[in-house]
Amino acid sequence: MSVSSLRDLFVHDLEDVYYAENELLDVLSELAEQTEDEEIAQAFRDHREETEGHVDRLDQVFEKLGQEPEHEECEGIEGLITEHEEFLEMDSDQDVLDLHNLVAAQKTEHYEIAAYGNLAVIADRLGEGEVGDLLHETLEEEKAALDKVATLTEEFDVQRVTGATSDD
Ligand SMILES: [Fe+2]
Ligand SMILES: [Fe+2]
Repeated sequence: MSVSSLRDLFVHDLEDVYYAENELLDVLSELAEQTEDEEIAQAFRDHREETEGHVDRLDQVFEKLGQEPEHEECEGIEGLITEHEEFLEMDSDQDVLDLHNLVAAQKTEHYEIAAYGNLAVIADRLGEGEVGDLLHETLEEEKAALDKVATLTEEFDVQRVTGATSDD
């Protein structure tokens, strides 16, 4: 597709985040399953539920714009997924994995906040007020999700990890 106007860029970036959100539905389920700490696993499940709402909002955005919802492969999220998959192939202690999963989730939230922050600004510039409101709603939920995982990371009892050094 040719991207030559602000609207083209807007649609391109919407397709990119639409792809990312759909991938994150699977990622958040997997993170919840891999994590032993129940409070952390619950945070992943809660945000997965919110993520279903993010996909619904994007469907509404495409409809308001008169566009078919399409996916543009999002290399940014794919990179984070690959990074996480490579970590899983290493032999890690369960507590280390729980902490790593929190950090992986933080990275995805930062990515989404950058994407939605930019989309909300462009929607306002394009005079797409209703679309902008939908994007702002999701942006606020992404920020709250980041706060949640950042707090859980800060509160994580690092003794669980520092005591888990290997002998080799
Ligand atoms: Fe999201
Ligand atoms: Fe998110």
